Parts: sequence; C-alpha cells; structure tokens
Amino acid sequence: MIILGINETSHDASASLIKDGEILFAAHAERYSKEKNDWYINNNLIKDVLQYGRPDYIAYYEKPALKASRLFLRGGAGDWKPRFDLKGVPRKSFKHHYSHAAAGYYTSKFNDAVIVVLDAIGEYNTSTIWVGEGNNIKLKHKENYPFSFGLFYSAFTKLIGLMPNQEEYIMMGMAAYGDWKKYYKKVDNYFPNYHTQLYNFHRGITDWGLITEQDKFDIAAAVQAVYTTRMMEFMRMAKLITGKKNLVFMGGCALNSSANTSLWKIYDSVWIMPNPGDAGSSLGAAAALYGKHLDWQSPYLGHDIGGEYPVDKIIEGIRKDKIVAVATGRAEYGPRALGNRSILADPRDPLIKDKVNLIKQRELFRPFAPVVMEEYADRWFDMKFTSPYMQYTVKCLQPDKIPSVVHADGTSRVQTVNKQQHSGLWEVLNRFYKETGVPILLNTSLNIKGQPLLNDERDVRMWQSQYDFTILR
Ligand SMILES: [Fe+2]
Repeated sequence: MIILGINETSHDASASLIKDGEILFAAHAERYSKEKNDWYINNNLIKDVLQYGRPDYIAYYEKPALKASRLFLRGGAGDWKPRFDLKGVPRKSFKHHYSHAAAGYYTSKFNDAVIVVLDAIGEYNTSTIWVGEGNNIKLKHKENYPFSFGLFYSAFTKLIGLMPNQEEYIMMGMAAYGDWKKYYKKVDNYFPNYHTQLYNFHRGITDWGLITEQDKFDIAAAVQAVYTTRMMEFMRMAKLITGKKNLVFMGGCALNSSANTSLWKIYDSVWIMPNPGDAGSSLGAAAALYGKHLDWQSPYLGHDIGGEYPVDKIIEGIRKDKIVAVATGRAEYGPRALGNRSILADPRDPLIKDKVNLIKQRELFRPFAPVVMEEYADRWFDMKFTSPYMQYTVKCLQPDKIPSVVHADGTSRVQTVNKQQHSGLWEVLNRFYKETGVPILLNTSLNIKGQPLLNDERDVRMWQSQYDFTILR
C-alpha cells in the first residue's frame, strides 16, 4: 500500500510517500518554491514525489473542518482548506497533534514510550501527552488554545523584532549573549507554571515599552530560561502520569536544541524525529494511516541531485581554502543540513566563523555547529548520548581548539556521525582527524540567510552564478 502524506495551509507545507512501511520520499515545499516557510504544496514537489509511486491513499495532517471552526470561533492565523488533490485517490485526515505523535512514535525504535507534542497550535490542541505501546497511540492529556508553549516563545520572538514562526531559532541563539536573570521574573509572570498562562500570546506582547539592543539579548535569555523550566515541568508530569522511561518529543518546540539537552536528565532515552515541526507532519499523517512503525533509516529523503560523496575534493578544498560547499545525493528532510546540502569548514580557525557568516549574509553573532565523529564525541563535548540530527546543545570540553563552533556560553549544537549513518561524511571527518588530530568540522546549511536550503541542479547553477564559490558534487 502506497500512502502520500500531505501538510499545507499553514507554515511549512510538505509531502511524503511511504510504501508498506518504507519511507520513499519526504520533502518541504519551500525547497522547490523558494518561498521560505511556504504554506502550500507546489507542482515541482508533486512531480518529484510521484516519481516514487502512485498513491493508493492521501493522508492529510489535520482536520480541516475542526481547524475552520477554531479560526471562525476563536481566531488565529492560517488557512484551513487544502488545495492539493489527486483525482480518484481516497483521502483521510488526522488530527494535527496525532500526526505529530505518529511522525515521532512510528519513526522511533520504541515499542513503549510517552509521546509529548508541544507546538504553537493545532486545530485546538497545543500541548498533548500520548502513550505509545506496540502499534497503538493513545491520548492521555491535552491543553488547548490559547495556552501554548509555542505561542509564548513566538510572541517574544516578535517582541524583540524577529519574525514569529520563523526566527525562533535566532532568539534561541541570542539567549547565550544575554543575562537571563534581568527579565526572568517579568517573563515568568506571563507563564507562572506548566499549565497556566496569564496572557493570550496570539495577540502579541505590547506592554513592554522601549526595548534597547541589549534588552533584546536579555529578554531572549529570560524567555529561554522560562521556557526550559516550564517544558521540564511538563515533561516530568508526562513521566509521572504515564510511568514511561522512553520519550518521543515532537512539535515545533522540539527544535529548541538548548532546552532538549535537559530531557536526558529525566528520561532513559529520547527520540526526536529530525523534522519535528509541521513540516514533519506529512510523514506523520502517512504513518498515522499506516498505523505501524516505519522503517526509519535516515533523514536523506528529499530531492536526489545524484553523485557520489566527494570525499577527496572536500579534503583538498578544506586543506586549501578552509571552507567548502557540498551538494550531493538526497536532500535532508528537516531544517538542518546534515552533510548533503552543507558548507563544511575548518573549526580550528577563529576567523572562519566570520567568513562563513559573510558568505551566508548572517548576523555576525550567529553560532555555527560542529559535526563530530561519534567515536570521539564524548572527548570533545559533555554528552553521554548521540546527536545524529543536530538536536542537542552541549558544553564543549576543548573550546580553545575549535573556536569557530563554540557559542558565547561555551556550548555547541552537535551533530554526531558514525560510518553507518553517513559513510561519506564520516570518511571526510576521519581523514581530517588523521591530518589534524581534530575529528570535527564546522557544518552549516548551504543557503543564504532567510532563504531555503539549496535543493536541485537549478539552485546550484543559480548559487554559482551569483557567488564566486564552487559547490562540490
Ligand atoms: Fe504543529
């Protein structure tokens, strides 16, 4: 049975295709349309996905009528009516949070777990707790709009002049430069415990008066601290009411890599699907219809640009220029470039960070992430778990040796790689390690600030005509 999963009508539309539990394809609409956080499916994406098979069913990631009722009765942003259709193919819809839960649980290795979904808003649900046992997923607890972890974070993102629903990750990065104590109490007053908020964040925060540049960093730090505290309270409650030791964490909030690290303090094992936000829900809807675990192999599920991993060229390029760009094989499904649409650079050079920021036209304070051989990860970073999808921020143990991938607070958002996960990238790191004694490279997405990652041949040609920078293939 072939199932096409679809999510659209809100930020981050995507499409996925599964066949009898095998994931054949999964990709974001924005990579094809070049419209960041694109709300709708486009023809090029559909052409790409249908190459992998004609679906027997379409699975849709939320209940359109239920969402329409919320928009009508209680307001909020968004469309509710899906545009995509495939004549003659039957369609089934699943609740927004159930699609998140299914995307997480059915791609995990767990047969017994608690599933926590925290996002801005689904139809009505904003925070849910589920139990996954065998093939079944059952709802245990829910909180509804306007209470929302995601809307809380997004409202402050907007307050400090960033784009809500898009630039939360920038605010998270800014937190490292702020004094969290300065505004902690003030921010905490809006969200005093894990089930109470004294504000409808959808309306935006308007009562702060003048905010200086330094205030923005201090507010970011306070919001991150309050978010982490409340999130951990919610996670402890989830453990208490379900008695589970394995956690599946999904929803846009699971992209908060700084807070995610704390989850390992209360759970034995944690799985966050590499695309936990709404862009992951096309796969979630397909998985929900299938109703069983999927064979999760890797996040390299998007457009196939072809080619073998150019190990020799990367090593030569880094030796010569310290920075290289790579576009090869299948694009990553999820917001992080994990080696196939990446800029890789020598992390030992303290000036590399600024150079890469200039290429990408980003703010100079923005941090970069390291990719490290899994075998050596715990010698370089304070971590007792692996992080194959760059989902956790941990303390760097040797910051002087790799200054370009260490944030202002001494942490790094680490990607660990083993041979099975990505043999080409692992070999690049292994060769670099043999030459330098450092099993780490800087790894950042191949894009320009605010634009989607490069996807196909056309994007590569466009980049190369605009920039004097060769993309290795
Ligand atoms: Fe969501």
